[in-house]
Amino acid sequence: MKALVAYFSASGVTAKVAQAVAETAGAGLFEIKPEKPYSDADLNWRNPLARCNREKLGGKDVPVTGRVENMAEYDTLYVGFPIWYGCAPNVVNTFLKGYDLSGKKIYAFATSGGSGIGKTAEKLKPYVPGAEVVEAKLLHSADEARAWVK
Ligand SMILES: Cc1cc2nc3c(=O)[nH]c(=O)nc-3n(C[C@H](O)[C@H](O)[C@H](O)COP(=O)(O)O)c2cc1C
Repeated sequence: MKALVAYFSASGVTAKVAQAVAETAGAGLFEIKPEKPYSDADLNWRNPLARCNREKLGGKDVPVTGRVENMAEYDTLYVGFPIWYGCAPNVVNTFLKGYDLSGKKIYAFATSGGSGIGKTAEKLKPYVPGAEVVEAKLLHSADEARAWVK
């Protein structure tokens, strides 16, 4: 089994959890970065005109910088992100769409400001045709991440 952890983190919380997942799983680590980084203003969801809200409402693709060149070598993909509006941020969906992930097992994990994991797993499925979304799990800490992987 060869595993990769791909994660997006706007403010560092998910990054810490992703690191713990990767260490525990003995997996590689790839950071999903939008081509245009998010500024604080971009993330201010209280402002209806902020970038995050425009992307969400428009269902927009958010281009990713860099690429996992050896994706075919992995049979297991952990995908980590902060919960945005009850599910994965658009940049994560754009990342997933960029690969043929059929036959792979996908484990999603997320951090949040309080929301549960909701329908995150179901909402990811359209972006990973042919892959199996085994589970989506809300993780609150690196310790929880280590316990989950084990
Ligand atoms: C645009 C935006 C939307 C968010 N939507 C939610 C939400 O629906 N539910 C929730 O509990 N937290 C929400 N949050 C909070 C993040 O999920 C939470 O702070 C997360 O741990 C941040 O992780 P990060 O530091 O890896 O980006 C939102 C944050 C942002 C910036």
